[in-house]
Amino acid sequence: MIQIVEAIAPLRAWLSTPRRAGRSIGFVPTMGALHEGHASLIQRARADCDVVVVSIFVNPIQFDRRDDLDAYPRTLEEDLAVCRAHGVDVVFAPSVEEMYPTPMACTVDPGRVAQHLCGRYRSGHFAGVATVVLKLFEIVQPDVAYFGQKDAQQLAVVRRLITDFNVPVRLEAVPTVREPDGLALSSRNRRLDASERALAPTLYRALREAESRIASGTADAAAVTRAAAALIPRDDRLRLEYLEVVDERDFQPVERITGPVVVAGALWVGRTRLIDNVRCPPPSHA
Ligand code: PAJ
Repeated sequence: MIQIVEAIAPLRAWLSTPRRAGRSIGFVPTMGALHEGHASLIQRARADCDVVVVSIFVNPIQFDRRDDLDAYPRTLEEDLAVCRAHGVDVVFAPSVEEMYPTPMACTVDPGRVAQHLCGRYRSGHFAGVATVVLKLFEIVQPDVAYFGQKDAQQLAVVRRLITDFNVPVRLEAVPTVREPDGLALSSRNRRLDASERALAPTLYRALREAESRIASGTADAAAVTRAAAALIPRDDRLRLEYLEVVDERDFQPVERITGPVVVAGALWVGRTRLIDNVRCPPPSHA
């Protein structure tokens, strides 16, 4: 039977039994509105660990815009059905009051890795992510935590968080799950109307262009992003927020591609902001 727990104390009490018995705990943090991308993280956790914990919490402190927080889909009943179907043991679904009974005095500043890309356009976003993820790690104390490559910069932030605060958790990165036309699954996709949905895959098409330019030997990052951005159609509903090449380790922009990079983009489609990325090995003769 799946356990649905809303408070921290009973969650800790429930987890203490398997923990004492030496059973491994896998953790998938989410904001709900679960889709096949989340499900692939859960499946990995189910395959690797004895106990699987999923958290569902729309974290207010990582939203830079009130309208985005208010519009974020909340679908708890459907989410519980997804969790049940994938054999989750415990769903932790706390209220905002449970997670933040008083405003946080101490927060995590993720530093350089959060400087560019989404960090530049969403002020305070990664501080909010790093703070809630550290709280969730303290609450759940998992052996393994699963994060999606879809949010590559978030993954880099969490990697630094674990290293810098000596969190005893193993981080597993899970590949991005996509629609057949390439659009990365996202809770935000459900906000797209039919004509916006038809335009949405252009972001991934542009990123694939960048990937193939890099693979065929273009080392000049500006040339790569220019060629990629040219594939985004001119359309009133589309606005490219960024498309950049960054170093895979520290997420700093690169000018010449000599090591592994991430090409990341954010595209506004109507009132919806979509992000995506591809990881690229360096060109063979760089
Ligand atoms: P959320 O957007 O719900 O995503 C939860 C996890 O699912 C993240 O690790 C994300 O990278 C992964 N994910 C989302 N779409 C995916 C896809 N198409 N393929 C594979 N994995 C995908 O990310 C957050 O929530 C929050 O910032 C959180 C970490 C929970 C902190 O509040």
